[in-house]
Amino acid sequence: PKKIVVLISGSGSNLKTLIDNCQETHSFHVSEPINANICAVLTNNPSAGGLEFAREANINTHIVKQADFANRALFDEALLEIIQSYSPDLVVLAGYMRILSEQFVEALSGKLINIHPSLLPKYKGLDTHQRVLEANETEHGTSVHFVDTGLDSGPVILQAKVPVFPEDDADILTERVKYQEHQIYPLVVRWFIDGRLKLENNVAYLDGLALGPSGYA
Ligand code: GAR
Repeated sequence: PKKIVVLISGSGSNLKTLIDNCQETHSFHVSEPINANICAVLTNNPSAGGLEFAREANINTHIVKQADFANRALFDEALLEIIQSYSPDLVVLAGYMRILSEQFVEALSGKLINIHPSLLPKYKGLDTHQRVLEANETEHGTSVHFVDTGLDSGPVILQAKVPVFPEDDADILTERVKYQEHQIYPLVVRWFIDGRLKLENNVAYLDGLALGPSGYA
């Protein structure tokens, strides 16, 4: 099996979904497990709820705190060193809430993916659900993309849309978006692990075909 390292900062619901999809957790299943092991989970947040999911599944955890390093470059170097020690095929950002340095991103180019809670290129950055509500959008969603050195700017691989209803608040929207994330992130990870997904010259390819600005559609 191939090797995956996951980075989290929070509740880790996307991590949990990936763990489940890499294991035969059910007596029957619709599709085969993803042919990979999650060999480590890294976090910058010692109280990240998602650490519990990793521990339950006997996955190595590493806590790397920004406060222990003089600057971002040194912090990212330490992070990268731990990641490289596992020689992962894929590095998955799953609610990792820190900006990564150019050096870090370049070292992992083509095998670093992120999920961002908006229909990119709309609503890059933080508080996407609140901003979507304030803008009276009727449609929202989530995007899985390859990470490049810009902020939430790498080539999109797959998006899922959700409706926004007038009575929605940020909590319900978060929940509605996360439900979709749990459908699409394992699918993209499966594509990558099966060798179907590639990044070349900053263009994402699925089965050798270039994906457009909204990814697979
Ligand atoms: C997810 O909704 C993810 O899209 C978002 O954080 C949440 C993590 O949830 N990521 C970002 O905002 C990245 N800037 P989880 O910890 O339950 O998987």
